[in-house]
Amino acid sequence: MKKVLIIGGAGFIGFHLAKKLLLHFRVDMIDNFSRSIKDKDLRELLKKKNLKLINFDILKDQIKLDKLSKNYTYIFHLAAIVGAKNVLNAPYNVLTKNIELLKRAINIGKKQNKLKRFIFTSSSEVYYGTLKNYGLKFPTKENTKLSTLNLSDKRGTYMLSKIYGEAMCRLSNLPFTILRPHNFYGPRMGQSHVIPELFKKVYFSKKKFVSVFSPDHRRNFCYIDDGINFILLLIKNQKSLGGTFNIGSNKKDISIKDLTKIIIKLCNKKIKIKKENDMLNSPKRRLPDVSKAIGLTKYKFQYSLEDGLNETFQWYKKNVFNNNKILNSYN
Ligand SMILES: NC(=O)c1ccc[n+]([C@@H]2O[C@H](COP(=O)([O-])OP(=O)(O)OC[C@H]3O[C@@H](n4cnc5c(N)ncnc54)[C@H](O)[C@@H]3O)[C@@H](O)[C@H]2O)c1
Repeated sequence: MKKVLIIGGAGFIGFHLAKKLLLHFRVDMIDNFSRSIKDKDLRELLKKKNLKLINFDILKDQIKLDKLSKNYTYIFHLAAIVGAKNVLNAPYNVLTKNIELLKRAINIGKKQNKLKRFIFTSSSEVYYGTLKNYGLKFPTKENTKLSTLNLSDKRGTYMLSKIYGEAMCRLSNLPFTILRPHNFYGPRMGQSHVIPELFKKVYFSKKKFVSVFSPDHRRNFCYIDDGINFILLLIKNQKSLGGTFNIGSNKKDISIKDLTKIIIKLCNKKIKIKKENDMLNSPKRRLPDVSKAIGLTKYKFQYSLEDGLNETFQWYKKNVFNNNKILNSYN
């Protein structure tokens, strides 16, 4: 059986990716649980004989790094310092650690005997500087010229680390593919994202209204199963070698206000939306052009936004909202 390594495998995307890959591969996942938890779902998955969790910090433990197999066919590098809190409180860390994490991942790649693909998850955030400086075309294509912010701006650190990371992959001599995911959502995504936060607010609301920030901002949300199936089909295609691809849903974007309306309906509540201010530095709109990846894969999306949100809600209700211990520690 061929072997796959997922660096950052216990996180949101890594977990769902591992679940699918286990059907065909032996999977090793590295994680230090800095952002994820060994919850019931992960413990259940770890019962599979072809999955191995290697629990360590790839920035710290050189001995464990040296002991890794040299026979991975695919390496997915997902580990990163992410999230608004990190960007604002520890921007220098975001910048330097993301680069160091990728450097170590590339070095693992270089030691492999028969690596077919090194996959780097960049981000939709790479377009943020262009949006701020010049405005963006929507849907946004991968060949959009990228631009930076003022280099002292903390908000730009995550974006810079991803742009620099893309260049590192391109110059690494590895057989790489770069992915730019756009707002994946689904079970086990943590709490500090717009969808689980809105579900939490609405589900627990005892008031007649729910406060919604940036109500007119627009996003394109991609249900995790669609995101993973789309990525796997793309990676299987030889023509994705050396390419950069937006990964997101092919549906239209939706305003946060309209998203909240669906969430209120799913929670079976009768409450109104109270429009609040726009969140500082939140992009007004994100909408990827995914035609490049669809052209190669002919991928057919399976989940409507309503269906994906319902799956997400059912999971959160059962595993987080009705479990005080998890609810208080989930971030
Ligand atoms: N989720 C999205 O919609 C989205 C959008 C754009 C880009 N991305 C990118 O995709 C990747 C995965 O995203 P995610 O949502 O699964 O994030 P996540 O935070 O849920 O997963 C990342 C995992 O990496 C682990 N990790 C971090 N530092 C580590 C270290 N030093 N050693 C070992 N493990 C470490 C964390 O514990 C976590 O489990 C990230 O690089 C992110 O920037 C995600």
